Amino acid sequence: TGADTGDDVGADSPVVVVANRLPVDQVTDPDGSTRWQRSPGGLVTALEPFVAGRGGAWVGWSGSAGEAPEPFESGGMSLIPVELTEDEVDRYYEGMSNASLWPLYHDVVEKPEYHRTWWDTYVQVNKRFAERAAAVAAEGAIVWVHDYQLQLVPALLRQQRPDLTIGFFLHIPFPPYELFTQLPWRSAIVEGLLGADLVGFQRPSAATNFVQLARRLHDLPARKNTIEYDGRAVTAKAFPISIDVAAFDELARSPEVLARAEEIRKELGNPDKIILGVDRLDYTKGISVRLNAFEELLEDGAVESPGTVLVQVATPSRERVEHYVHMRETIEQQVGHINGVFGSMAGPAVHYFNQSMPREELAALYRAADVMLVTPYRDGMNLVAKEYVAARSDLGGALVLSEFAGAAAELKQAFLVNPHDIAGVKNQLLRALRVDPREAASRMRAMRRHLAKNDLEHWASSFFDALKAQDGGQTSGRVA
Ligand code: ADP
Ligand code: G6P
Repeated sequence: TGADTGDDVGADSPVVVVANRLPVDQVTDPDGSTRWQRSPGGLVTALEPFVAGRGGAWVGWSGSAGEAPEPFESGGMSLIPVELTEDEVDRYYEGMSNASLWPLYHDVVEKPEYHRTWWDTYVQVNKRFAERAAAVAAEGAIVWVHDYQLQLVPALLRQQRPDLTIGFFLHIPFPPYELFTQLPWRSAIVEGLLGADLVGFQRPSAATNFVQLARRLHDLPARKNTIEYDGRAVTAKAFPISIDVAAFDELARSPEVLARAEEIRKELGNPDKIILGVDRLDYTKGISVRLNAFEELLEDGAVESPGTVLVQVATPSRERVEHYVHMRETIEQQVGHINGVFGSMAGPAVHYFNQSMPREELAALYRAADVMLVTPYRDGMNLVAKEYVAARSDLGGALVLSEFAGAAAELKQAFLVNPHDIAGVKNQLLRALRVDPREAASRMRAMRRHLAKNDLEHWASSFFDALKAQDGGQTSGRVA
């Protein structure tokens, strides 16, 4: 005991974060040895500095099936792994979370499937997460539950531990009544979320959708954004998530990153213009939209290869879920086609990487890119857009951003596009490629000013302050 692994790690924590994934993933190398690497996605990017800074405990899955590793300390956090069997990964993670809820909550960009066995496993796994969190949380602790994989945890946790203050944050969009009510288990999900004191969303419209559901589906009294439920007040409110802006800014202006940015330009053959896309390989991200727009501009002769290149970095994601398998095939065919037609001995028109890259390399790419293309059909926030802005202390570069990303509500000086309107995307991409540097700088300056105030710490502390205020209201018996 007293070592950095084992059952006492994280015991009696005053702050506990519960998310499907731990900030690190356990990977097994071909020689059978295991190691930890950073987990993919925006949730981890945002939460890690927050939990590390507060010395909190983090309850989550290690990313591989089978027996869970022992709890351990890492980077100032207590990490508490939760076990998932092969079957559970199949039904709870790949099935219910990523083939039912993910597409439903993202405007049914792909058709969600509903299976009762997936749901049963979702319930079972949510119970396990709630039990783990209940076991490590100190008396009266704050437990903060995250995202669509764990929507039943707030209510399950409250049953076991009424002493806790429970917050929930949804990182992805929350659909309107008309879509949400497709879900065969819609009531259970709403009741699960109502177990929290405060339910946070990326956008005000999502909070409104939730309040409306509680009213219409459950006939609950609600005033403004506060729902009365079970003798408690549950508030639904928007807290747009952000990144550690100062840290990313500093990284992007380091001499190593700047030198690497120069080198990348050279390695790409010193093109006049570099267009960049960085995403998890996900069908919500609209990667095909970009490829189509770029291909048409090449066909029209509006841009030329190799004078203008597109670099697309796409991290592998959810590779056993069918929609993802198809989408990857489509994108790789498209890239092959464009390079077949427009590539030359000097190099391809599209540089495609199906790889995860270190943050230093991403920062260098952001610095090297003349235009950043972010074109999701629907996205809760999109932190890539914020990283690009945070990286451009030189006030260079231009951001093309989908109106359907949460980030568009804040980064209003971007070149906004409707990803369904290919002519519009082409137009804005051309404008961004040809923008006068003074105009580009003034747009970038305005966006950077917004981000400097609205950073990760601002997000986390506004959520925490609201959660504590809400909890104070509950104990004094006041229903707002
Ligand atoms: P999502 O959460 O849906 O994946 P976000 O844009 O909000 O989308 O967050 C993605 C996060 O993952 C960002 O922090 C981004 O830097 C990181 N990321 C995306 N693509 C890659 C990649 N190829 N290699 C490394 N990190 C990546
Ligand atoms: C998004 C979701 C997260 C998820 C991440 C990566 O950011 O909101 O909950 O962790 O994508 O996806 P994965 O399925 O690999 O965890």
